[in-house]
Amino acid sequence: MIVTITLNAALDRTLRVPNLQVGVRHRAEWSMSLPGGKGVNVARALKRLGQPVIAAGLAGGRVGTQIIEELTAEGILNDFVRIGEESRTSTAVIDPMNNLQTEINEAGPSVTEAELSLFMDKVRYLGRGADLFVVAGSLPPETPQDIYAELITELASHEAVTAVDTAGPPLRAALSARPGVVSPNVREAEEIVGHEFSDVEERGAGAVAMCEMGAETALIHGEDGCVAHVRGRGARRGRTYAATLGRSDEPVSTVGSGDSFLAGYVAARYEGASDEAALSLAVACGAANTRQYGAGVFDPDDVGALRRQVQVRELG
Ligand SMILES: Nc1ncnc2c1ncn2[C@@H]1O[C@H](COP(=O)(O)OP(=O)(O)OP(=O)(O)O)[C@@H](O)[C@H]1O
Ligand SMILES: [Mg+2]
Repeated sequence: MIVTITLNAALDRTLRVPNLQVGVRHRAEWSMSLPGGKGVNVARALKRLGQPVIAAGLAGGRVGTQIIEELTAEGILNDFVRIGEESRTSTAVIDPMNNLQTEINEAGPSVTEAELSLFMDKVRYLGRGADLFVVAGSLPPETPQDIYAELITELASHEAVTAVDTAGPPLRAALSARPGVVSPNVREAEEIVGHEFSDVEERGAGAVAMCEMGAETALIHGEDGCVAHVRGRGARRGRTYAATLGRSDEPVSTVGSGDSFLAGYVAARYEGASDEAALSLAVACGAANTRQYGAGVFDPDDVGALRRQVQVRELG
């Protein structure tokens, strides 16, 4: 079983507004809403890939109820701790005229110490039955920045592997707890490593640096694919890869491509696939996600076709 953890779950609204301008009243020509937050998106994508997954996390208020009910309606198993304050709503406005996407995300509820400790109990319980955890997304305001680190350490004691998708201080703290996988985008990785990457070799060195900071595997993704470093173990030397896929036609929506990317990687790892196979599935899922509205939503046929076009090579 795979468990995803979303501490700052959201109801994600997507609006399509041609010629979006600030300071002007608009009419959305189309809209949709889906339960979201990165871990929830990863769970949706894992389910689409046919993997057994439970979405766990914190949810509160009427928005929290809606998140849980709609997840259940999607057939995504879920196990959220209810909190007192209201979960957040995130809004993405897509402007089809110039292909720009504007995201406005609320900060989210504050969580009490008692609620967090209830959640840690739940994680301990789930840790007894699951082999792979994905912790993803931002933290609710005022949550300890090292909570992901605490989760990783707790889950490691149950021999579960944890994959982390977050940024800034929570990512830095998570690295020190030696997670199985980290999956930042290029900008997030540059911030942690401390400088910009000018080419694929520098991205590869960035992935190596993140493994030196504690990750077993570091995936750094961008719109043209990813680089990855897998730390050496015993007789096996460390390996660095680049997986590329030419940018597809104009994307419909790129929201959640990093989440679909990670779901692809985790699904392949869960099935014991090779590094190369996991990277090609990850990149294909990320790209397939850009062809449809909805984070973690893609057509498995697109994934199959795109995967055959992904080129994976080892970097020197
Ligand atoms: N325009 C695009 N065309 C094709 N593939 C894309 C495009 N944008 C993203 N992808 C795919 O999705 C993966 C992840 O993309 P990216 O690094 O932009 O995610 P992200 O910034 O973490 O997004 P989010 O946090 O919203 O999920 C890439 O590795 C790539 O496979
Ligand atoms: Mg991301």
